[in-house]
Amino acid sequence: MHSSSDGPDLREMWLQQRATGALDRFNDRTPAIYRLPIETPATVAEWVAGWGGNSLFLTGPIGVGKTHAAWQTCRNWLTAFYGPDRSWQGSAKVYTYRSTALFDALRPDGPDEVRRTLIKELQDAELVFIDDIAAAKVTEWTQERLFEIFDERYINRRPVIITSDVLPGDLSPVTGPRVASRLAEMCRGSVVLMDGNDRRKQVAA
Ligand SMILES: Nc1ncnc2c1ncn2[C@@H]1O[C@H](COP(=O)(O)OP(=O)(O)OP(=O)(O)O)[C@@H](O)[C@H]1O
Ligand SMILES: [Mg+2]
Repeated sequence: MHSSSDGPDLREMWLQQRATGALDRFNDRTPAIYRLPIETPATVAEWVAGWGGNSLFLTGPIGVGKTHAAWQTCRNWLTAFYGPDRSWQGSAKVYTYRSTALFDALRPDGPDEVRRTLIKELQDAELVFIDDIAAAKVTEWTQERLFEIFDERYINRRPVIITSDVLPGDLSPVTGPRVASRLAEMCRGSVVLMDGNDRRKQVAA
């Protein structure tokens, strides 16, 4: 028998299932070591709550935990996206790329159509995480493709999460000056310097 209270309960269950499904799929494509749930620094955790298009830039020395914090933040972001505090806004696409793989995929020698599709997906996705942005070699061609991606995200206030051992102010040689300029504005107020020791060495000790 149905009562008038069935409606909200069913909707709640349906939303819960969508959230669980999205998080399960995200966990499946998370690299094994970054699946471990961790506490992120307070400033990083606060960013998740700060909707409105602001991006997040995690910087700091090797092994301090930037990449792990970024994966955890993507999970937190997805949880919040499907959470009860937000009215239903369809499903969220979260793209995660190492800079090396991304720059490779953007190269001019691959099929045009595949590259155009990737650029469009990276322009439109609800969240894009690029790991270690300064780790890969860039060409002028890659910088132009990055500009296409970042300019579209910038003008539409779509967030990115970037990790890097290079500060945003020093990114020009990697991304080109126009992307670096946009990133500076996108990440204003949410550049987090993660300080500490190389956790890999602590594990080995
Ligand atoms: N808060 C945490 N609690 C426990 N382990 C952590 C935490 N953060 C990171 N780690 C672990 O520390 C190691 C290094 O973390 P991570 O790969 O995120 O570092 P990184 O700053 O991205 O390094 P790199 O600059 O070399 O890319 C990994 O094994 C990771 O799982
Ligand atoms: Mg890393």
